[in-house]
Amino acid sequence: MELQSAKTETLKEGAGQRRHEEEEGGGQRRHEEGGGGGGRQKAPMKRRQEEERVSPPKKLVIDHSGKVASHYNSLQEVGLAVRSQSRIFFMRNFNNWLKSVLIGEILDQVRGSGSPKVSVLDLGCGKGGDLLKWRRGGINHLVCADIAGVSVDQCQSRYEDMKKKSQINEKLFSAQFINADCSKEVLSEKLDDPELLFDICSCQFVYHYSFESEQKADMMLRNACERLKPGGYFIGTTPDAFELVKRLEASDSLSFGNEVFKVSFQSKGFYPLFGCQYHFSLEDVVDVPESLVYFPLFEHMAKRYNMRLVVKQRFSEFFEEKVKKENHRSLMMKMMALQPFPCEDGGRQATDSRGEYDHAEEHCVRAGVQLPLGTLSRSEWEAASIYLVFIFQKMS
Ligand SMILES: C[S@@+](CC[C@H](N)C(=O)[O-])C[C@H]1O[C@@H](n2cnc3c(N)ncnc32)[C@H](O)[C@@H]1O
Repeated sequence: MELQSAKTETLKEGAGQRRHEEEEGGGQRRHEEGGGGGGRQKAPMKRRQEEERVSPPKKLVIDHSGKVASHYNSLQEVGLAVRSQSRIFFMRNFNNWLKSVLIGEILDQVRGSGSPKVSVLDLGCGKGGDLLKWRRGGINHLVCADIAGVSVDQCQSRYEDMKKKSQINEKLFSAQFINADCSKEVLSEKLDDPELLFDICSCQFVYHYSFESEQKADMMLRNACERLKPGGYFIGTTPDAFELVKRLEASDSLSFGNEVFKVSFQSKGFYPLFGCQYHFSLEDVVDVPESLVYFPLFEHMAKRYNMRLVVKQRFSEFFEEKVKKENHRSLMMKMMALQPFPCEDGGRQATDSRGEYDHAEEHCVRAGVQLPLGTLSRSEWEAASIYLVFIFQKMS
């Protein structure tokens, strides 16, 4: 199988995964020895150990789907008044701005290629945080799918609300809502229109949950890509595994983070290709196990679905490129994606902690820019800069 060659790599070194598995196997062996009650090893036990060394024991496959679904189901929907008091208000706006730019540019591409009616799959739609973006983009049909049933219901009622309030002369897109584990179930079997093909699949801050196992990662990829039209796009955002590992290796413990987020691993040095779990917590928004997505493997797996990688950019790179355009800059202002520094009269700084705005002060001095400038607190930027943007296109 083609994938096999990629499987022998790990994030850091080929031997890493093998050593990791052997260590796990070793734990199992110690357990058995204890059960046997003997201090000295018996010959059959030794032979079994030799055999295990030749073919490492199977890794336990951990499934956190239930945990992920109940975490997202339990998140309360809060209004703008509460949201604006959040420590990560500007970072969330920044992420939203980034998604808006990504979605807007892809819609332009799709329209430019002459697609008369645009259909979109929002894979891991959550509570419908992107519904307005699809409305603004004037799409014709949207399918929203998510593992968290409560979120899907909230997404649907948000849509119904939108429909009620939409202007008489505005034709809001039609929509279908599906509650499904998209890393286990085949979505195309649940579509109201079995013939439906998508122009875009958008998978925002979701794909990493599927990298628990090869089967799950492949099913998620299949759902994202199998119903795409030739020339259609699979777009998304996900943590950059290289960045996470770099920060872990630089830390003198098994975790790193700051006052807004924390990432904790169980070990370091060995990074299996699938199921390399870490725990991610972000203020009051995320508190779940996630898995590293080794991007070269993701890209390799996507080829099975005839997908070619068009863009892979860290959030920082994407921001630097897009902010050069006037329309993106004015959207940024409108969405309050950056915090004015120093904060304006009546404005609120996200934090009073020391050192959180040193970079902004230094930038003012160095570049001699006019105040106020737009920025994020250091902690928010450290969290946002973990992520990357990807765009794949289906080859015809
Ligand atoms: C961080 S939220 C992002 C929500 C939305 N895409 C956004 O950008 O606002 C991650 C979402 O992925 C969903 N998710 C995680 N694993 C999933 C799976 N296997 N199938 C479908 N949805 C999943 C969660 O329920 C959650 O709604």
